[in-house]
Amino acid sequence: MDYFQAASAAPPGWQRYSLDDVDRLPAQYLADVPSGEREAAGRGDAEAAERLRRALFWPMLYELEPELWDAISQAEPIHPGILAKLEIDGRRVLEVAAGSGRLTVYLCPRAAELVCVEPSMGLRRILASRCPSADIRAGFFHALPIVDGWADLTVCSASLQPDTDAVGELERATAPGGKLVLISPDSPDWFETRGWERLSFDPAEVAINPHDPELEAIVGPLDPPHELLWRMS
Ligand SMILES: C[S@@+](CC[C@H](N)C(=O)[O-])C[C@H]1O[C@@H](n2cnc3c(N)ncnc32)[C@H](O)[C@@H]1O
Repeated sequence: MDYFQAASAAPPGWQRYSLDDVDRLPAQYLADVPSGEREAAGRGDAEAAERLRRALFWPMLYELEPELWDAISQAEPIHPGILAKLEIDGRRVLEVAAGSGRLTVYLCPRAAELVCVEPSMGLRRILASRCPSADIRAGFFHALPIVDGWADLTVCSASLQPDTDAVGELERATAPGGKLVLISPDSPDWFETRGWERLSFDPAEVAINPHDPELEAIVGPLDPPHELLWRMS
């Protein structure tokens, strides 16, 4: 999803963040912002300012309100059929974009070794409290802090976008013959047409946990992760 698509797709809660909040984001999130856009917004171009606040809604949520993302993710669990398919036992597992641990809590007790990569410091803190034995590292998709071929299983839930460089980095971190697993990436069709196996589960089968209705006012209808894609490295 490019910058303009992200701006169009922003959920209703985009208005909770200001241009000052945009300035608080790590530079990596601003890489896709077209040149001149921030300057225009700073000069008072209302349309550019709105696009920026919309397009960067999700990074601002993860970076600035990690507890809010945690509440959302705890309300919409991963489809149990996906969890049942994961082959975790005894494996070296790499979880990328681990968030506050919605998936990690299933990996942690079963993996032989577990490394989690997550850029948001606030989310890493929650993750560490939930999964104290995991090796949790700061990092982004495009430069994973992992040696080549470390993982037997590399998994990523509700985070990856169609991006050949990011997929290449997941492959680099995964051992030959290891497995790459994506749970509900953006645009699953993009991955399927590039040779990933796909299994779609019915999101209506997921029991949504009790939650504050304000969450839906912010992010729209809850959408529990229900797509499973995989391929061998
Ligand atoms: C929708 S959340 C999913 C979190 C977790 N995997 C889950 O299923 O609950 C997206 C996650 O991707 C992380 N993220 C965003 N941009 C990233 C990037 N460029 N590289 C790695 N992680 C990123 C966010 O910090 C956030 O934790």
